[in-house]
Formats: sequence, structure tokens, C-alpha cells
Amino acid sequence: MRELCLLSWVVLLGLAGACPEACDCGEKYGFQIADCAYHDLEAVPPGFPGNVTTLSLSANRLPSLPGGAFAEVPLLQSLWLAHNEIRTVAAGALAPLGHLKSLDLSHNLVSDFAWSDLQHLGDLQLLKMDSNELAFVPRSAFRGLRALRSLQLSHNRLHTLAEGTFAPLTALSHLQIHNNPFNCTCGLVWLKTWALATAVSLPEQDNIACASPRALRGTPLSRLPPLPCAAPSVQLTYRPSQDGAELRPGFVLALHCDAGGQPAPRLRWHIQTPRGTVEIASPNVGADGRAPPDASPPRFRAFANGSLLIPDFGKLEEGTYTCLATNELGSAESSVNVALASPGEGGEDVLGRRFRGRAAEGKGCYTVDNEVQPSGPEDSVVVIYLSRAGSPEAAGVAGGTPGQWLPGLLLLGQSLLLFFLASF
Ligand SMILES: *[C@@H]1O[C@H](CO)[C@@H](O)[C@H](O)[C@H]1NC(C)=O
Ligand SMILES: *[C@@H]1O[C@H](CO)[C@@H](O)[C@H](O)[C@H]1NC(C)=O
Ligand SMILES: *[C@@H]1O[C@H](CO)[C@@H](O)[C@H](O)[C@H]1NC(C)=O
Repeated sequence: MRELCLLSWVVLLGLAGACPEACDCGEKYGFQIADCAYHDLEAVPPGFPGNVTTLSLSANRLPSLPGGAFAEVPLLQSLWLAHNEIRTVAAGALAPLGHLKSLDLSHNLVSDFAWSDLQHLGDLQLLKMDSNELAFVPRSAFRGLRALRSLQLSHNRLHTLAEGTFAPLTALSHLQIHNNPFNCTCGLVWLKTWALATAVSLPEQDNIACASPRALRGTPLSRLPPLPCAAPSVQLTYRPSQDGAELRPGFVLALHCDAGGQPAPRLRWHIQTPRGTVEIASPNVGADGRAPPDASPPRFRAFANGSLLIPDFGKLEEGTYTCLATNELGSAESSVNVALASPGEGGEDVLGRRFRGRAAEGKGCYTVDNEVQPSGPEDSVVVIYLSRAGSPEAAGVAGGTPGQWLPGLLLLGQSLLLFFLASF
């Protein structure tokens, strides 16, 4: 019993006077300081007093900060980590430090940083991350940092920054982003405009410069010439049959996504059928319609020119077809609802709405009966009657000669294409 008592006293005393061997712990101006700088440390040592508010681990050899690295010192207000070899700051390393006001991670090798942890640091005023290997900062990185006054990201590997990245930083007065290899394309034009207008001080403006494209290398962002830039736009047109013959079972449905924008946008198709969703990064076939050698031939063939061909179109392919175009300036999309029906019977779209056609005057094109209430101005409904046995004048009509694209029935927003199959 006596021994046990003694032992617990030793433990208690040990905790009270705790300080890792490599560190000096002490109080100064009311702050509890732990100084562990210049010690070749390869990990955050254990054994700090729980009330430490300032911790210096500068000039050591820390290779990373794992989750929970600072669990012992939740009251930290200042954390100095400059001049280490930190490559990774894992999720959960910084999040528990809700009282942190100053964080210095400069002069490390950080390329992998858990940005989401910053959202928990609402008191942070100074964030130094200059001289690292950061290649990317997510647009939402600084979302929670409403107290941040100084942000230092100079001397990294940033090629670009998304518009709005600094918008949440309402207290920001000082921003260093110079000496990054900026790629001066349309996606960065906003930064020039923002830099000219903002009250935030941006030092070394001549070194906030383009590294690419080649023609602009070395040009300071502030002197970037106007670039031809346009956000994407899309128009969906369709062609019921490649041959323009009568529409019979087994026809080829061809949708065409006509996308504008500068730089030329990337295209994707999103197809929602009753059996599930298909996502296609266009193109998935070559110009000859063939899939890459090791891939099986896709059901939906997306060509580089924006066309989507669905051979042997049937009930299983009914659904909503959406084309999405994305470039650095944003994205745009357009959808069409495709349903299949026999003459007189009407059809049903993906949402389970029933449609019945009625010939529009002399056009061979059917409009929809009153049962359908378009749900908004975008929800225009187009029903096409393409072919009926014994009325050849109706074949392949709906505004164009067979084989032509039909921009006349342009599909803005959500439209419905209802194909009536020829009856025999
Ligand atoms: C922190 O804790 C140590 C030991 O437990 C104590 O001596 C010191 O007064 C405390 N400092 C502050 C600022 O609370
Ligand atoms: C610059 O951006 C363009 C457009 O996003 C891209 O195609 C190009 O590869 C980028 N260049 C560099 C060096 O990152
Ligand atoms: C796109 O390419 C495919 C395959 O070469 C072709 O069938 C289709 O007609 C083309 N689309 C347009 C709009 O030219």
C-alpha cells in the first residue's frame, strides 16, 4: 500500500512538471511555452503539459504530421513548424486546435495537406505555408477562416487558383502568392481582376507571374493581355435515323451536343434510364465508332465531335439524356427526355408521365395533349411522330430532310422526345 502510494505520487509529480526531454517548457508573459526547436526530432515528442499555448518545433526533421499529432496540447495558440521535412499533414492533425491563432508551416515539403482541417480553425489569424510543394489549393480551402489576416502561399507549385478561393477571408489584409508557376489561361483571368480591385496587400506583384503558356512566360499577372475566354454553352439536337428512312424498330438514335466555349469544353453524357445511370466521358469511341482495343463496344457511343449514337434504340434506352460541357470558366448542360411509343398509344416518360400525341398541322410532328403540364419554362415538351406505315409523307419529317440534324426542334433545358414507332 505504501509503495503504491509512493508510485502514484511519482506519477503525479511527473505529469505536473512534464516536458519532453528535447524541449524547454516555461512560462513567459502569461503564455505556457514549449520550445523544441533545433533538435533533429523526427516525431512530435510526447509528454507536454496540457496547458501549453505556444509550441515551437521549428528546424527539426519531422517528416509528416499524423492525425492526433497535437492531441496533448489542445489549447495551442501558436504552432511553429518551419524548416522541417514535412510532406504530409494528415486529416485530424490540426483540426483539434480550435484556439490556434498562428500556424507556421513554411519551408517544408508539404504537397499533401488536409485542407478540411482548416475549417475548424476559426481563430486563425496567421497562416504561413510559403516555400512548400503545394500544387493545388481547393476552392473551399479557406472557408472557415474568418479571422485570418495574413496568408502566405508564395514559393509553392501552384498552377492556378479557382475563382472565389479568397472570398471567405473577410479579415484578410495581407496575401503572398508570388513565385508560383501560374498557368495564365482563362481560369486565372479572375485573379488579375481581383488583384487590381482588392484592398488586400499583395507584395511582389511583379513576381506574381505566368510560367505557362510559353508565350506568356514571365509576364506579371497584372500585365496579362486580354485572353479570348467564354463560358461553355450547349445545344442538343437530334437525328432520329442515320439513314433518314422510316422509323422502325432497331433505328439509330443520334443526339448531338453542340458545345461552345473558349477554351473548347470537355463533354460528358449523363444518361438516366429506368435501369440505372450511365456516365460517359466523351469520347468513348474513335471516329470510326470503335472502342479502344481492350474495351467492349459501348452501348452508347460518344464521339469526339459531340455526337452520341445509340444503335438499335429500344425501350431499355428510354430515359433522360444530358450533355454537360465544362471548361475552366464553368459548365453548362442540356437534357432531353426520350420515350418510345407506337402511334395512337402514346407513351410514358422516365418520370412516369403519360403522353399522347396529336399531329401538329402539316408537320408530322406531334405536340402533347393537355395531360402534360410542363413543370417550368425550361421543361418544353417536344413530341415527334416520325413514321407511320402507309403515310410516307410523314417519314423522317419533323422539320428536316432525312439525315439532317434538326436544330429547329432545339432542346432547351428539359425537353421530351417521344418517338412513335412505325406500325406495320
Ligand atoms: C501550466 O501548468 C503548469 C504545470 O501544471 C503550471 O505550473 C503553470 O502555472 C500553468 N501555466 C498556465 C499559464 O496556466
Ligand atoms: C495550363 O492550363 C491548360 C488549360 O487548363 C492546360 O491544358 C495545360 O496543360 C496547363 N499547363 C500547365 C503547364 O499546367
Ligand atoms: C460525328 O462523328 C460521327 C462518326 O464519325 C458521325 O457519324 C456523325 O455524323 C458526326 N456528327 C456530326 C454532327 O457531324
